[in-house]
Amino acid sequence: MKYRSLGSTEEKLSAIGLGCMGMNHAYGTPDDKESIATLELALDLGINFWDTADIYAAGENEALLARVLKSKRQEVFLATKFGFVSNPGAGNAQFDGSPAYIKIAVERSLKRLGTDVIDLYYAHRVDPNVPIEDTVGAMSELVKAGKVRYLGLSEASVTSLRKAHAVHPISALQSEYSLLTREAENNVLPVCKELGISFVPFSPLARGLMTNTLDVSKLDDSDFRKSLPRYQEAYKANNENLANGFAEIAAGKNHSAAQLALAWVLAQGEHVIPIPGTKRRKYLLENADAVDLQLSDDDLKAIDDLLATYPNTGARYSESQNKLVDRT
Ligand SMILES: NC(=O)c1ccc[n+]([C@@H]2O[C@H](COP(=O)([O-])OP(=O)(O)OC[C@H]3O[C@@H](n4cnc5c(N)ncnc54)[C@H](OP(=O)(O)O)[C@@H]3O)[C@@H](O)[C@H]2O)c1
Repeated sequence: MKYRSLGSTEEKLSAIGLGCMGMNHAYGTPDDKESIATLELALDLGINFWDTADIYAAGENEALLARVLKSKRQEVFLATKFGFVSNPGAGNAQFDGSPAYIKIAVERSLKRLGTDVIDLYYAHRVDPNVPIEDTVGAMSELVKAGKVRYLGLSEASVTSLRKAHAVHPISALQSEYSLLTREAENNVLPVCKELGISFVPFSPLARGLMTNTLDVSKLDDSDFRKSLPRYQEAYKANNENLANGFAEIAAGKNHSAAQLALAWVLAQGEHVIPIPGTKRRKYLLENADAVDLQLSDDDLKAIDDLLATYPNTGARYSESQNKLVDRT
């Protein structure tokens, strides 16, 4: 494994982290035994940067990780998030970034995770009804109290990021970023670099699309992707052609499409630390190897040309899901 620094700190995080959400939330059928084996293998591979949230499986995702953390806590750089008080997949997702709620949420996460301290605590979104200074002020109290080590935001605008960073150093910003979701390039990626903040792309494989193994027609009705525009029949032909072409470029480099997608994300800057999600050892092993894949200018051009050939990829979020993405 290769390592990248967390923000301006000395902490070394695996350049490929592990997104744990899909182990029992949002995607497919949970298999706890395989998920535990995946978490254990992650440590054997040096993948120390684990990502969860209190909302995933209504706390059961944190509880699942606790089963491995029990004996391996010191080996993990543990990130979790607070704020959603109803399922973010539902159109009516509610968010609470108030100081009073943060105090409650952190105690619940610590208990479920079976730990005394969270390494990186994110506000899962920016609460439009609470000044970001108040949210981050309350989060910084948790650092003072030794319950949390570093602070992060998710899907925050650069305006909020700057305001937050002035209250307490923000170490990481986690937002969706992949070959298909490029909004962060406008100003978030350069501002993170300027401020010494790690940028943590979530859904770096476009929720499986860029692996060329996802058949959106076969998704379960309960699968979260069913609620997202990009995974609807209207975009299926475009996205399958795109993923096929992408897999061909990857095969030309003797790698899988998933590996090429991750290598592309990693190539966007040393401050970028993606957290691909999987519940399977097979995929974890494959994803870990992406750190050694180097992309040439010709590779990058071939990828750009392919994306330009298939532009009808569909929006990442519906209108209601977009409401909690901070664009202030
Ligand atoms: N901050 C936020 O609001 C937010 C939102 C979404 C996600 N996240 C975090 O980001 C993490 C990653 O995002 P994500 O899980 O949404 O999307 P992702 O990493 O882009 O894709 C995950 C999907 O790709 C599949 N996959 C993974 N590696 C593969 C490989 N090598 N070959 C084929 N398929 C592969 C997984 O399958 P299996 O499930 O079958 O293994 C899963 O269906 C999450 O786990 C979560 O921790 C945060």
